[in-house]
Amino acid sequence: MRQLLDEASKGNYALGAFNVNNMEQIQAIMMAARSTQSPVIIQASRGALKYSNMVYLRHLMLAAAEENPNIPLAMHLDHGNSLESCKTAISLGFTSVMIDGSLKEDGKTPTNYEENVEVTKKVVEYAHKLGVTVEGELGTLGGIEDGVGSGKVVLTDPDQAIEFIHETKVDALAVAIGTSHGAYKFKQTPKLALDVVRAIHERTPETALVMHGSSSVPQELVAIVNKYGGQMKKAMGVPMEAIQSVIPHGVRKVNIDTDGRIAVTGAIRKVFVEHPGAIDPRDYLGPAREALAELVSGKMKDLGTAGHAKDFAPITLEDMSKTYDKM
Ligand code: G3H
Ligand code: 13P
Ligand code: ZN
Repeated sequence: MRQLLDEASKGNYALGAFNVNNMEQIQAIMMAARSTQSPVIIQASRGALKYSNMVYLRHLMLAAAEENPNIPLAMHLDHGNSLESCKTAISLGFTSVMIDGSLKEDGKTPTNYEENVEVTKKVVEYAHKLGVTVEGELGTLGGIEDGVGSGKVVLTDPDQAIEFIHETKVDALAVAIGTSHGAYKFKQTPKLALDVVRAIHERTPETALVMHGSSSVPQELVAIVNKYGGQMKKAMGVPMEAIQSVIPHGVRKVNIDTDGRIAVTGAIRKVFVEHPGAIDPRDYLGPAREALAELVSGKMKDLGTAGHAKDFAPITLEDMSKTYDKM
């Protein structure tokens, strides 16, 4: 993933990092990457690995790479909670891991700075030897989604972030700048802490900044869910313009899960309502895949990723590990 982030930095664009749990989601993201000619990050949470019994997800990701040799693709562990979970992902072939040391292993209790540095450093030492990229996190996001998140917001302190980057040598840093996981982020148009991103980026331009909780919660997709029997409450996400405003200040990875969930759910609900007799999973998973592909293509265009697939030739993990050796 490091190479993809560095390229994004050169081109001043961001990559969407899209969460997956199953085959259709992976196919949809790759369809979007092909049609827009975008490099792409596919990420799986620990929950996704558990749901797919790990081995299935591993082979689906490998299938995505095999089917798309011309699309630079990083396979990333989202919200790793320990050295062990990162090691497991690496053993499955993930080329990048996140160690979310802002929270304890339970994924809920905030850690202190020293604990965060300690676990992140261990992951970096292990991963870089193998050429694998590491994302850390400092500060805590708001919102709780399936057990991820403390529910308390602590914005990232820029001075501490600089120290953290130097101490741990992470490739990418997830910063808390006002976003949160899930569909219900804000009651009114949010203001992101642009000053935090700017202050970190000015002093460590080589470190990619990551924005979690970046779903925009498109109202037209929420309307489809609700039109076909869903009951989503009034929800508001991060407007794309707000995301675009932080990209020039070093945000290179933008995590999106919720929007994909909404797109998939709306498409499936529509089929069920319009064709109550449908019983073939292909009849609803197919449209779900189409809806997700359309959403992701739009994001790739909006984030500026589109058209960059052929800018560079992906390097191997072995070569990457040699590069880390020299750093
Ligand atoms: O940040 C969390 C992601 O949206 C993944 O969610 O743990 O329910 O798979 P999950
Ligand atoms: P959303 O819930 O906004 O899609 O954020 C996903 C995320 O940050 C995954 O790590
Ligand atoms: Zn996240």
